[in-house]
Amino acid sequence: MSICTIVIHPDPRLKKAADAVPDISDELRRLADDMLETMYDAPGVGLAAPQVGVLQRLIVADPAKGDDEPQPVVMFNPEVLLSSDETSVYEEGCLSIPDQYAEVTRPAEVKVRWLDRDGNLQERDFAGFWATVLQHEIDHLNGKLFIDYLSPMKRQMMTRKSQKFKRERARD
Ligand code: NI
Repeated sequence: MSICTIVIHPDPRLKKAADAVPDISDELRRLADDMLETMYDAPGVGLAAPQVGVLQRLIVADPAKGDDEPQPVVMFNPEVLLSSDETSVYEEGCLSIPDQYAEVTRPAEVKVRWLDRDGNLQERDFAGFWATVLQHEIDHLNGKLFIDYLSPMKRQMMTRKSQKFKRERARD
């Protein structure tokens, strides 16, 4: 396994809709493993393939955080089938927008359908922090970032800070 370089906002790859995965190859399974390693190393609770420069519909997540056992999930072609009217607010961050956080309101519960790493179709309801993390990651597959839910002023401010981070990283 290896750690991938994370694409930092602003970057055109983070604004594009990713392509559906037609079939799950060993190469894509390896990419999922690398993404999980990259996510844990960062550390973060979720990562979408466009964030490592691959425009395919693949996300990994482990929103269990401090809970006893890691609970990694790998989802190919994830889709939100149903969203609750009820909403919840969590402070979100993103590995592509380092060290910046803001509260985002999203549906509190979602029903998600996806293909697991063996190509089996799965469907499950998620609530709480899990629901927020999965919606955040699925947004990435549609070229949408959590800062797109914020006011233009706040978005601009966070974009500028991210740009500065990116310049400094390029210099190192
Ligand atoms: Ni993100």
